[in-house]
Amino acid sequence: MHIQANCSLRPYNTFNIDVKTRYYVEINKQSDILVLRTDLKLASLPWQIMGDGSNILFTKDVEGVTVRCSFNKTKVVKEDQDSIWLSVGAGVKWHDLVAYTVKQNWWGLENLAWIPGTVGASAVQNIGAYGAEAQDTITRVQTLNIYDGQRVEFRHAECNFGYRTSLFKQEYTNKLLIHRVTFRLRKSHAGKPNLVYEPLKQALLHIAKDDLKSQDIFEAVIALRQERLPDPKTQGNAGSFFKNPIIEAPYFDDLIQEHPNMPHHKMLDGRYKIPAAWFIEQAQWKGQHRGQAGVSAKHALVLINLGHATGNEIVELAQLIQADVNQKFGIYLNLEVIIL
Ligand code: EPU
Repeated sequence: MHIQANCSLRPYNTFNIDVKTRYYVEINKQSDILVLRTDLKLASLPWQIMGDGSNILFTKDVEGVTVRCSFNKTKVVKEDQDSIWLSVGAGVKWHDLVAYTVKQNWWGLENLAWIPGTVGASAVQNIGAYGAEAQDTITRVQTLNIYDGQRVEFRHAECNFGYRTSLFKQEYTNKLLIHRVTFRLRKSHAGKPNLVYEPLKQALLHIAKDDLKSQDIFEAVIALRQERLPDPKTQGNAGSFFKNPIIEAPYFDDLIQEHPNMPHHKMLDGRYKIPAAWFIEQAQWKGQHRGQAGVSAKHALVLINLGHATGNEIVELAQLIQADVNQKFGIYLNLEVIIL
């Protein structure tokens, strides 16, 4: 375990924000937690737990210890005729895991290809895209208590998964460190393609549904994401900055009368989910910038660092957008990204 003092976090967040942390540590075994707790200069400082920093916006230096977890072992823990239970270290890169499972011809993660971040963060954030969410395959999450290093395990039903959220993003923030996540995947004969997301279905029309492999979905998703979302390697960003708002039916009825072309998705509970990107684009923010903070010209839901933005510049732009969308549509856009 290596402890660095006064370290820049710029390489560790996809927004490329240049803030510092008092100490930076990577943990790769359970006993590292106890070792850190006995280090007098670190013991009393707060911990900030991070994955790959792909859903975080830093607005100030971290006055404590930034902890990243690099547990990286993957093992099959159970198997039956149709399924594989794969236990994966929290530090594994999410896309590497997806690519590995697709290579084995397993089903379950292919719709979630090309999402930045780590396996640990996939459970915290319940990542989702193209009609799938991490919670569809997660069966267990193993964590370590950051005060005493003890293991605490959660079954799926205990994780309180929701739209881009979980127990680990709510009451256990910076209290539990995700150690391993178990996924239940289907073997090639037992799975089937998830084509509920219309543009994905359209992109795969040239292949007969019965011939589709998880690899085909994987490739189509990568192509869609590359076409629609700016690459954080070349333009700092954290994917969707806002959540898609969910509104009650009577308010939806009013809005759709005024804006008959408004895209929408009716949910099982009768409410409606509307793409935040649509509101932002209608309010003329797409491609705009304020100083070094901008709205992607590729996708209105993605705020970008034009090079040297501070976290606060991006927050100020987000607030302008929130106020404007609220004034024009009566909708308040909640943040998806975590502001620190
Ligand atoms: N749209 C616009 N302008 C734009 C982009 C989109 O008006 O610039 C409208 C279009 O009508 C489009 C609709 O928004 O049909 C939906 O756009 P898209 O399919 O790109 O999905 P999204 O709702 O904007 C969500 C997730 C993404 C995920 C995609 C695909 C949230 C907050 N975002 O975006 O997740 O990749 O669906 O499933 O739920 C992320 O969480 O970081 C993320 C990228």
